[in-house]
Amino acid sequence: MSSRFIGVFDSGLGGLNSVKEIIRQLPDENIVFFGDTANMPYGDKTREEIISFTKNSISFLSRYDLKAFLIACNTSDSNASKTVKTCFDLPIFGVISPAAKKAVSVSENGKIGILATVSTIASGEYVRRLKELNENIEVFPMACEKLVPLIEEGKFLNDDGSLRKAIDEYLNPLLEKGIDTLILGCTHYDLIEDLILKKAPDLKIVSSSVSAVDDIREYLEKNGEREKSNDPKRIYFVSKDPEHFEKIARNIIEDISIKKSN
Ligand code: DGL
Repeated sequence: MSSRFIGVFDSGLGGLNSVKEIIRQLPDENIVFFGDTANMPYGDKTREEIISFTKNSISFLSRYDLKAFLIACNTSDSNASKTVKTCFDLPIFGVISPAAKKAVSVSENGKIGILATVSTIASGEYVRRLKELNENIEVFPMACEKLVPLIEEGKFLNDDGSLRKAIDEYLNPLLEKGIDTLILGCTHYDLIEDLILKKAPDLKIVSSSVSAVDDIREYLEKNGEREKSNDPKRIYFVSKDPEHFEKIARNIIEDISIKKSN
């Protein structure tokens, strides 16, 4: 029996939404996660910085025998994927293409909104891929500078009003455009899906962290690489403040235990 791993990386909490979905769809798989909390948020960093963080994160996780790797970070996928795919001999999956595909398939009126970080929106990747899928789609991108720091602070668990105010600021202009579908183009935003739906209950929500897992499952099945372990390993690292991270992360994955990377 092999004991190879699926590697998952994000700047922080968002990637755990993908891990949760991998566990749901592929419960026998070994998973190793790295959250680069020392450099979080990625959303306000330059492309060069994001490429460098992404390379270091993949190198760090490459000490495990990886059979697939998920960049569970839209900011990194949009700015660094092309470069890092040429540096590692590893099947590397991203979050943007699967989310774009899903959004085009569910939208009925062809008006799709995107909430994402400043660097993701600046890259133009979502608009490009949505238009490639259907050039008639109307796309409304919104850069959301404030959301990731508020979510990492744990405000989605106990909002003092600041998170709701930020959501209103970013979501209202998209609702005014008449979108019927909203891409959560940052893996952290799954943690505010309830707040968004309270405001706009009819909106079709597409989660980038969840959509990505279908591609990995298909790849593993096609290549006969599904694990058959009864005792799958789950290993989690962050680069800073493991105690704070673990406390908040337990709201996503109950029995999580976090180590600090060296
Ligand atoms: N979860 C990352 C993403 O999907 C957050 C980026 C950040 O750290 O700003 O873009």
